[in-house]
Amino acid sequence: MATTLRINGKTHRVDLPDDVPLLWVLRDEIGLTGTKFGCGVAACGACTVHIDGQAVRSCQVPLGDATGEITTIEGLGTPDAMSAIQQAWADHQVAQCGYCQSGQIMQAAALLAENPAPTDAEIDEAMAGNLCRCGTYPRIRAAIHDAANRIKGA
Ligand code: FES
Ligand code: FES
Repeated sequence: MATTLRINGKTHRVDLPDDVPLLWVLRDEIGLTGTKFGCGVAACGACTVHIDGQAVRSCQVPLGDATGEITTIEGLGTPDAMSAIQQAWADHQVAQCGYCQSGQIMQAAALLAENPAPTDAEIDEAMAGNLCRCGTYPRIRAAIHDAANRIKGA
């Protein structure tokens, strides 16, 4: 069945069953491979994208429910200008292997949109569902504080 999706400000039409997970559509149909498959059961956060500004696990969103404005890591900044959070991530060299990081950044971006000055405890709570096997959690926390300051000073 044909479905129209809004992704990163563009309209896409896909012809797939309504129950196909959004993650598969993003990666295999649209070619947005920045969003990663980790667990497939909402337990790792690697597949996090935004729908209407809310962080969601795209492995658990059926295509038929993906009716809002979808933002992936590719849509967070532009090729010429990274978002404040991406700049903070780069400056703090947060990524190690990198696999979890697009999900981490999307989760952090949703947190900062809702809470522009989160405490350490609020960061830890908001990011608890995003796992990093490389243990980059201290750098993630530092980058979120830095991004909050950059956004405040912008
Ligand atoms: S792949 Fe979706 S939460 Fe792990
Ligand atoms: S940077 Fe390797 S899993 Fe997070």
